[in-house]
Amino acid sequence: MMEWTDRHCRFFHRLLTRRALLYTEMITTGAVLHGDRARLLAFDPAEHPVAVQLGGSDPEALAASARICADLGFDEINLNVGCPSDRVQDGRFGACLMAEPELVGRCVAAMKAAVAVPVTVKCRIGIDDQDPEQALEALTRAVEAAGVDALIVHARKALLAGLSPRQNRDIPPLDHGRVHRLKAAHQRLPIILNGGIASLDAAAGHLALLDGVMMGRAAYQEPWRLIEVDTRLFGEPASFATAKAAAAALIPHVERELARGTRLHAMTRHILGLFHGVPGARALRRHLAVHAVRPGAGAGVLADALALVHDGDLDLPRIVAA
Ligand SMILES: Cc1cc2nc3c(=O)[nH]c(=O)nc-3n(C[C@H](O)[C@H](O)[C@H](O)COP(=O)(O)O)c2cc1C
Repeated sequence: MMEWTDRHCRFFHRLLTRRALLYTEMITTGAVLHGDRARLLAFDPAEHPVAVQLGGSDPEALAASARICADLGFDEINLNVGCPSDRVQDGRFGACLMAEPELVGRCVAAMKAAVAVPVTVKCRIGIDDQDPEQALEALTRAVEAAGVDALIVHARKALLAGLSPRQNRDIPPLDHGRVHRLKAAHQRLPIILNGGIASLDAAAGHLALLDGVMMGRAAYQEPWRLIEVDTRLFGEPASFATAKAAAAALIPHVERELARGTRLHAMTRHILGLFHGVPGARALRRHLAVHAVRPGAGAGVLADALALVHDGDLDLPRIVAA
């Protein structure tokens, strides 16, 4: 998610769940091919498995970008066919590609020919006055014929004229049923549902019928939910017993990044929703809001903030010094 799932967010989320697949923000082929690649595509090996999402519609540029990303070690290459922003429409990619399934098929075929890792697509159920029954079916057939490894469907339309990107994430109604019908019609294609999945209970319900679920805002705004993903959905032990223990484990990463010149707030902004129903959570947010944004703020600010939260008995000063 743009401006949200940067490498600091992903590093933090990986502490919370070993098994969930993490996605980068969308990166355009122009940025991959001509931009500051080292910065835009940087990720920590600890983030694996991590997928990169590309924005573009030129098969050759997408193939070249996919190859660069695969060579850097990304575990999956995902093509964005769902973003409704004006900038993206000007570039003729994102959600407006729902109207060009044949082109999306060629993009997928070119990417598949370029890399050995899975190539996936994230789309909407339709745009504007398209009929979702036909539009999603046409897109699915095109990408399935091109060998796509999975299709992630944000289960609402995008309305390209008149709604902002933010409104396009809320106003067109969700239609999870459309995605369940798609799965029934395409049994062999892995289909992953996205949109409005707000809890692991809801995720588990869909997982009985689909191949995967993608959580967007709930994962970012309420990251405490991720601590139970490995136990609830994968039958494996959780990495941490408490949110506070998970946040404390972030401190060595924070210290490494501060030494490289990263600002503290760039990292701590991602943990603000971590504490749910825990005494001191508001005090932590207030502490970080005031102190983490200050130039030169150090890891001690995070340790002090965590000391305000009462859900564990960690010796934070010792962790900072370790
Ligand atoms: C701030 C923000 C940025 C987003 N950026 C992207 C993006 O780069 N690529 C993408 O496919 N979807 C993006 N989305 C959409 C989400 O991935 C997701 O499809 C949408 O929020 C619906 O899922 P949710 O209800 O679980 O959040 C973004 C959403 C938000 C809130």
